[in-house]
Order: sequence, then C-alpha cells, then structure tokens
Amino acid sequence: MNPYVIDRASNSRRRAVEEWLFGLDMVSPDVREKIVTAWVSTWSSSPYQELADMPYSPGAPHYRLEWHVNDVTRAGVDLARRAAADWGNSFDNDVLLPILILHDVDKPLMYVRESPDKVSYSQLSHELQHGVVGAMLLKELGLPHTVVSTVATHAGNSPFHGRNFEAYVLHYADYFATDHAIMLEGADKEPYYQKHWK
Ligand SMILES: [Fe+2]
Ligand SMILES: [Fe+2]
Repeated sequence: MNPYVIDRASNSRRRAVEEWLFGLDMVSPDVREKIVTAWVSTWSSSPYQELADMPYSPGAPHYRLEWHVNDVTRAGVDLARRAAADWGNSFDNDVLLPILILHDVDKPLMYVRESPDKVSYSQLSHELQHGVVGAMLLKELGLPHTVVSTVATHAGNSPFHGRNFEAYVLHYADYFATDHAIMLEGADKEPYYQKHWK
C-alpha cells in the first residue's frame, strides 16, 4: 500500500497549513507551493482530522507536532542568522527553510494516537525510518537534493548526518525544541542534553 498520496486539491487544508507554518514568506513561490503540498499530502494521508491532533512523538505525547515544527523553524532561522553574522556562513533560504519546515513532514504517518496520554508507532514506521518517508515525498515533489538528503538523514537514529551547514543548523534547532517538549512531560523524563556521558 502506498504510504501517502500527493494532495494538491484540498483548498481548506492548504489554507490551514498556510496559516500554521512559520517561514513561508521567506521562500520563493515555487518552494512555498511545494512545502504546502507536502504537508497537505501527509495530513490527508494520515488518521488526523485536524493539524492540532497530530502528535509530536511517543516520548512527548502531549506536545503537538504543529508546535514543534514552528519551534524548529524559528530556532533554526535564528541560529543560521547568528552564524552568518558572527562566522560568515552563507545559506539559501530556499534550501534552509524547506529543511526546517519539512524535516518532520512524515510524522503524521509514523505515529498513532492511542489516547490523550499515549502515542505509539504506526505499521509504516516498522517498514521505513522516520525521515526516509518524508524524503521520498519531497523527491517526488521536486525539492532540491540537499533538502531530500538532509530530511532523509536528520533523525537521531540515522547512521550519519549530512555535512552541509543546513543539516548542522537543523540538528541543534531540532534538539533544542525536542528537549523543550520532553521537559514539559515532567521531571521524570530525561531530555537529550542530560543523556551525555552515560
Ligand atoms: Fe525528526
Ligand atoms: Fe523534529
């Protein structure tokens, strides 16, 4: 079975995605259209009626995916601007922004909400890794190779991460935002930054 269907038709979902996503005004019209189509497609192919229903992860079942995505985009834009100003790094918004906005585009297909307090893994998540399904979709939509490869390899359990500047920015923005979501779950949950040296 196809894990997703590309959806260019749902105008109500396009409007909801456009209202939700931070950073769409920073990219060219073509990239904006592809970003919106990518999110509409995984939303339409998912079990979730509303964007607000999409869970962020089994480890932080009360955090919404819609919050995490904007957390990461905002933090990533700040980090990239800081690096450009202080260290002279250069980047293209039409590469950096889709990487930040779309890194978790496959999550609506990877997780299943069992109850308000429990999120589990979908059947698809046992067939393809998180990141890889998103990369397949983004390749199909014609996004640049750097976007496809960085999304494919961004996850913490990937055997390696990209060597490009955008992959480095995404990693720290993603973990910064992830630890925020984990720490909101309570003092018994361990954020990634506390896992070192064990
Ligand atoms: Fe991810
Ligand atoms: Fe993420």
